[in-house]
Amino acid sequence: MASIRMRCSLRVWILSTTIFLFIMSLFFTYSHNSTAYPELTNWASADGHPVRFVPGYPGERHRAPSPRLPKTCSCKHCLRQPGFSDWFDSHYDASISPVWTLENSELPLEVQHWWMMLQPQFKSHNTLEILLQLFQIISGHNPYKEQDPQTCQRCAVVGNSGNLRGSGYGKDIDGHDFIMRMNQAPTLGFEVDVGSQTTHHFMYPESAKNLPANVSFVLVPFKALDLLWITSALSTGQIRFTYAPVKAFLRVDKEKVQIYNPAFFKYIHDRWTEHHGRYPSTGMLVLFFALHVCDEVNVFGFGADSRGNWHHYWENNRYAGEFRKTGVHDADFEAQIIDTLAREEKIKVYRST
Ligand SMILES: *[C@@H]1O[C@H](CO)[C@@H](O)[C@H](O)[C@H]1NC(C)=O
Repeated sequence: MASIRMRCSLRVWILSTTIFLFIMSLFFTYSHNSTAYPELTNWASADGHPVRFVPGYPGERHRAPSPRLPKTCSCKHCLRQPGFSDWFDSHYDASISPVWTLENSELPLEVQHWWMMLQPQFKSHNTLEILLQLFQIISGHNPYKEQDPQTCQRCAVVGNSGNLRGSGYGKDIDGHDFIMRMNQAPTLGFEVDVGSQTTHHFMYPESAKNLPANVSFVLVPFKALDLLWITSALSTGQIRFTYAPVKAFLRVDKEKVQIYNPAFFKYIHDRWTEHHGRYPSTGMLVLFFALHVCDEVNVFGFGADSRGNWHHYWENNRYAGEFRKTGVHDADFEAQIIDTLAREEKIKVYRST
């Protein structure tokens, strides 16, 4: 009898302890749902770089925005609205324009110096003078200056990854207000997976191609010669070579040509990629351009394909892995930033399954 009673009370004790532990674990799970920060800290400090993330605390990440702040756009979520992610807010600087215009034509000295060192084999020119000449051909005004709280600017940033193959994302991509592509990015023959529409095409002189009249050519300049080249390519056609042959004449809508701001380039390098790699990749440049002019950003065609291969969607060499470790960009760190932006609900990343 005694042993049965003892076994019985032991069972009750075990059962109630189990229930108690279960309830406590539920409590901890729900009060500590902010797992982003410990992970972030791990990868950010892995190679000894200083970490400046604000530590999270329960309830911080998804707190409602201050009701005194009016909404900045008419989307359900406006990515530029502060108060949703401390990590994002502490890195984001809305005061630096992604485009180089008459208003910010004079670069801060440290930016000028950094920019000139990107391709130091080129002679330094009087950048300001060259830029002002360029602004006699193209518009020197910032088209993104006004942020209209009545609109919802939805943007697709389309990378060139082979993971777009067979994705069927074409219709989704074409449904955006801005569709940003970079470098070669052919659409003809790939419409089902990559879409057919483009509003912004980011290129260097060495990767430049003619564009339809309704597409903005966004030049990413690495040197003063690039500004000379676009001035020439839209007028006299005298420059035919930088470090590689370049198009003498560029057929694009001059009214829609925009110049990527070197100060914005450096801001990404300082604040976001934190000096991992010599400078950020084109994909990063376009993504952060979008994060500064759009209300919603959806990312397509970034990263490796489902088998871990890095290649372009229009190429068949599935084993092209070389450009991942070029030493110029840090692909792993950039991938982490994209993951964090997605986790903080600032962007949505579409990957093919
Ligand atoms: C751009 O123009 C082409 C025709 O040249 C048209 O098919 C396309 O829909 C236009 N795209 C946009 C975004 O207006």
